[in-house]
Amino acid sequence: MHVGIIMDGNGRWATRQHLARLIGHKNGAKRVKEIVKHSPGAGVNTLTLYAFSTENWKRAAHEVEGLMKLFRKYMRDNFDKLDENNVRVRFLGDPAPLAADIRQQMQDLTALTAGNTGLNLNIAINYGGQDELVRAVQKIAQKAAAGEIPPAQITTQTIDEHLDTAGQTDPDLIIRTAGEMRLSNFMTWQSAYSELVFVEETWPEFTPALYDRVLSGFRTRTRRFGAVPADMARAAE
Ligand code: FPP
Repeated sequence: MHVGIIMDGNGRWATRQHLARLIGHKNGAKRVKEIVKHSPGAGVNTLTLYAFSTENWKRAAHEVEGLMKLFRKYMRDNFDKLDENNVRVRFLGDPAPLAADIRQQMQDLTALTAGNTGLNLNIAINYGGQDELVRAVQKIAQKAAAGEIPPAQITTQTIDEHLDTAGQTDPDLIIRTAGEMRLSNFMTWQSAYSELVFVEETWPEFTPALYDRVLSGFRTRTRRFGAVPADMARAAE
């Protein structure tokens, strides 16, 4: 099972307690550690976390810098632990605008864990679903212009293969915390048939117990992928 999480509400959680927004992000990073640890035992083999969107650069400079510091710290503190736990880490998004040292950490962590066979952890940093599609279309157009892909042979599979998630399954479930009911440019292509769950709790309040409750609720849903379920089709005959 692939679960995507839009980790929202760090700022609101902090503000409610008269704390600085960055304290909210720090507590959010603690939840990341717990949820990553909890995932394999809960039947989740791929976890995609939306950590920083292509739109998040519009935030105040000190908040953006604080988030970048947290990413550095998370990667530094968890570098060996992720590998020891057989986690395979990949990053989604366009790394180009990120600081050189962060890009280096991302490359090192990806390379170190490339052979791991446990949890697939995707961290989306400077990620936007529309930006990902634009980059995929550019790659495909270049191949088409070079005569490598005839335009008439471009299929949904061609697009899948040129996304940042190439070779991975689509998310079965997308969870968003903090009450907002939208996808905000997260996995725009891959979410076509994802089940969606919105919880009122903010990300720093998203405990492993709440995660378990959301996962059990998801398991009771019937997924049809556009088809008519067999029992309904029989009843109509
Ligand atoms: C949304 O809350 C959260 C973010 C923009 C950042 C998510 C980052 C983390 C959880 C920190 C660490 C992540 C990793 C992968 C180590 P918000 O600021 O939009 O909250 P608000 O809507 O209440 O203002």
